[in-house]
Amino acid sequence: MFWMIRVEGSYLYIGGFKAEDLVLKFGTPLYVYDKEVIIENYVRLRNSLKYGDVEVLYSCKANSNVEVLKVFKELGAGLDAVSVWEALLGVKVGFPPDKILFTGNNVTEEELKLALDLGVIVNVDSIQQLVRYGRLNPEGEVSIRVNPGVGVGHHQKAVTGGVTKFGIYLNQVNEALRVAREYRLKIVGLHAHIGSGILDVEPILNVAKTLTKLALSLNLPDLKFVDVGGGLGIPYRPGDKPLDVEGLGVGLTDLFNEFSHAYGRRVKLFVEPGRYLVGNAGVLLTKVVDVKVFEDGSLKKVFVGTDTGMNHLIRPALYDSYHEVIPASKANVERKLLADVVGNICESGDVIARDRLLPELREGDILAIMDVGAYGYSMSSNYNLRPRPAEVMVYRDEVKLIRRRETFEDLIRHMILD
Ligand code: LLP
Repeated sequence: MFWMIRVEGSYLYIGGFKAEDLVLKFGTPLYVYDKEVIIENYVRLRNSLKYGDVEVLYSCKANSNVEVLKVFKELGAGLDAVSVWEALLGVKVGFPPDKILFTGNNVTEEELKLALDLGVIVNVDSIQQLVRYGRLNPEGEVSIRVNPGVGVGHHQKAVTGGVTKFGIYLNQVNEALRVAREYRLKIVGLHAHIGSGILDVEPILNVAKTLTKLALSLNLPDLKFVDVGGGLGIPYRPGDKPLDVEGLGVGLTDLFNEFSHAYGRRVKLFVEPGRYLVGNAGVLLTKVVDVKVFEDGSLKKVFVGTDTGMNHLIRPALYDSYHEVIPASKANVERKLLADVVGNICESGDVIARDRLLPELREGDILAIMDVGAYGYSMSSNYNLRPRPAEVMVYRDEVKLIRRRETFEDLIRHMILD
């Protein structure tokens, strides 16, 4: 049986469950993840990478719920952590430390020490960090994040290559080698991540080419892996063309076969996607609270107000991101209402979806905001002193609460009240 996330008749289903029934059981707003979709994404990517020595590291900044991490652990993935706290959670969940790559930015000495205690692989992002690392762990193993000088992404704010704060710039690589020699460090990895939400194969292959060329020219004796980063995009809009994952797999496989041959031994290929693995596996269910119509002469604007907002999903406000909105129980009702779907936060930028055609909506109707499995909950906040939603995971005909809804007590837990 094949369930996944789909519309049947007028209803949105997630696995074996009608979205409306999940709402009856768990309330709104509610993040719902479909484990089957996550597994399918992972298997598709893994199968496309035919090069023998491959490690897929799940980039857990996209979604760091423990149950999501466990899915990847069971699938045999490694972990990409961008804070020591993500790395610590990975260790607690049971990822072997040597399958966790810690790629921090502006990392303090304390954080580096914690990473060393955890035994994870440290991927340094600057010359200063490399010096700090060398002092703390002379003769140790280290990976180097380089900034190849070019970047791409779905939005300027999601570009990390080029003139950005990330990585060791190409013209600093010789200095990095000098520091590594000074502290007798073994450079075991070369890494780059140029941006997020990439729907073309070419920029990712280009990163891989730059890194493998660099590895060949530096001829690093201890090199174990080359990490080409994440950034694999997913279609959000109805017309978006999905990334050609099979094509990417063939390109990377050919390149790494050639590279290993030229290098004289097998070097592992690491990829570290977040969004691609979990983005389309998540739905945010929200309730319509209010429908407001602004009318002035020929100008008419309809606002469909919901019980969620930019505090729970910041992507539309921060990047003008598009998320499909499906009326969960009126999916095939004729769409004649042109409206903005808005949140309950006191900011006029709190718009979830602009100018969408929807069916007539009433208070109590459920809307599903689609493709929010990545950078949804993980970027949520308590802005306006509002609690965060609950999260549930569906797997076929099973559903499990994987994070309870926050309460007022949670909101004031760290405040000094006397
Ligand atoms: N590796 C590193 C070092 C990263 O910085 C990132 C994402 C990834 C891997 C995973 O990227 P992905 O495969 O998920 O594209 N909040 C933005 C995305 C920012 C991503 C930052 N770094 C969004 O909602 O679109």
